[in-house]
Amino acid sequence: MKNGKIVAKIVRWCPCAGTVEDLKTIMTRGTPLILLLAMQLIASAFHSCVGFQIPSFLRGPFGKKGSDYVGGRRRWVPKAALSSVEVLDDQALKRVLLKHPSGSEATVYPFGATLTSFRTFDGEEVIAVRKDAKMDGSKAISGGIPHCFPQFGPGELPQHGFARNMEWRIKELSDEFTRNAYVTLELTDNDETRKIWDKSFSLEYTVTLRDVALSTDLRVRNLDHTAHMEFTAALHSYWNVSSLANVEVVGAFKGARVIDRQQSPHVEGTEDEYVLRITEPTDKMYCNLPGEVVIKDTGYNRMLSVKSPTGFEDVVLWSPYGDESMGFDDFLCVENAAASSKVTVPPLDEWRASMRVDVRTLPRARS
Ligand SMILES: *[C@@H]1O[C@H](CO)[C@@H](O)[C@H](O)[C@H]1NC(C)=O
Repeated sequence: MKNGKIVAKIVRWCPCAGTVEDLKTIMTRGTPLILLLAMQLIASAFHSCVGFQIPSFLRGPFGKKGSDYVGGRRRWVPKAALSSVEVLDDQALKRVLLKHPSGSEATVYPFGATLTSFRTFDGEEVIAVRKDAKMDGSKAISGGIPHCFPQFGPGELPQHGFARNMEWRIKELSDEFTRNAYVTLELTDNDETRKIWDKSFSLEYTVTLRDVALSTDLRVRNLDHTAHMEFTAALHSYWNVSSLANVEVVGAFKGARVIDRQQSPHVEGTEDEYVLRITEPTDKMYCNLPGEVVIKDTGYNRMLSVKSPTGFEDVVLWSPYGDESMGFDDFLCVENAAASSKVTVPPLDEWRASMRVDVRTLPRARS
């Protein structure tokens, strides 16, 4: 009765509202909508404040979208959640385990300062370790992200230099008040390195674990007071793919100077594609390649965006296509390198190079 009176009043004051009966139906029909909005409001509050994973259709217009949920992968993390770092020494080689409050994890071996695992919070592995890898220190770890320093590839020094098979010192670990867990490793010249390369240097390498991203920073210092130091360097990154048949590599390749190192002698040319597919043994160096390289994998339904904000100007694409003993179909190497020309560091100066990988979900194909 009361409702009826209100409705009648509205109709009187606002003639455009139609008849009393019309308004009554609107109000009855409107109730489910109001309940739905209220439910979505509560659901989104749970989602953002308590960290409950609630699907976006339940959160409706209140759902937190935009930058917090890039590619649907980022998970909301309570402000108070803590990262952690552990040094584990229960196997042949010591390893550092980084944990981010979002649930992502990374493993770094001080031996060769090699990262061997980066999992996002949903447990998906981004890194590949070759099936023929030795994890006992008898040789460099084949897979993960090993270093090539002070020489990329073959040359006067041993293939890929020595940094990848020396024990680095743990210099710093993030504390529990750091949101993005990190480890800093250090290698300075010693009797062993001077026998191979008679230079006075220090390398400092930091791996920082973010939620759906990971970054690395390399700092190379020339500790000599008078002499310049020259070298080439790279991160020989092995990215985990579902199968090379599912993979496209996208970047600013078209028009770039490319050195085909698979041929002997090497053949230099200009790339004429933006999108590359791996269908044969590949070893190509793209010189001064700007921007990111995206590894699109329809099998894993994800994209890995790999870039070097500073320092590494070349990108090397490597695949031992067809080599079953290496498990060739499980990985693709997209390597950030400074190798097409030598880096020169003046006395007591330094050179820095960084790399960052972001994991995203493939956008839905439009049909
Ligand atoms: C790739 O990741 C999967 C898990 O997603 C893992 O089982 C596999 O061992 C990884 N492949 C390599 C070569 O590391």
